[in-house]
Amino acid sequence: MAKIATNNSRVAICLTGGSSPTELYRLLATDPFRSRIPWDRVHWFIGDERFVRADDPLNNMGMARRIFLDRCAPAANIHPIPTDTVDPEQAARRYESELKSFYGANDFDPARPLFDLVLMGVGPDGHTASLFPDYPAIEEIERWVVGVPQAHVEPFVPRVTLTLPALASCREMLFEVAGAQKRAILTRVLDGENLPASRARSTGETIWLVDQAALPENFRGR
Ligand code: 6PG
Repeated sequence: MAKIATNNSRVAICLTGGSSPTELYRLLATDPFRSRIPWDRVHWFIGDERFVRADDPLNNMGMARRIFLDRCAPAANIHPIPTDTVDPEQAARRYESELKSFYGANDFDPARPLFDLVLMGVGPDGHTASLFPDYPAIEEIERWVVGVPQAHVEPFVPRVTLTLPALASCREMLFEVAGAQKRAILTRVLDGENLPASRARSTGETIWLVDQAALPENFRGR
């Protein structure tokens, strides 16, 4: 919050879906947070989307809109992944064009990251965004956004996801992980096992926000 306030130019935040960030989204709509965010110059993106209608309860950006964006952010600053396209691949192409036009270039300049902040979660199989273990999307290095025809975990709907290089182009990447059911997978991720959530890193800073219940044994008391 303080970093946003001291940054006088446009700010780009990439949100995540899933259940972990909902409390944070609720907080952003309440004072004192709401009054400290310069809503007119903050732009909101989403790291992955379920390929369902924008008003479907499963839609990630729809969830963020209902909880805080629609009440707080100017409509022009909300950048959802389109899901009214013929397929996830076309949605991915359209979102990639939107990101490139927002960024103003077709290639990443490490000195000028795409996002100021990228929020991430960790799924039960070690996925992050909609980058699932052993899926081709995880190896993508050219494209910024790709379609994922089939999900590896619930909900089993096709997905659209930013790729590792696009997610990495940020000043800060913040993983939020909570609950005892996440402890086993988080242990594997933090041990450096080859999983998408272990491979997703910011070119700037990567920060882990983990509650006590999810914290692996060997990190307790540190
Ligand atoms: C999605 C998400 C996904 C999520 C993780 C963690 O569309 O499901 O973007 O990557 O962040 O699965 O989800 P939870 O917070 O619900 O555990």
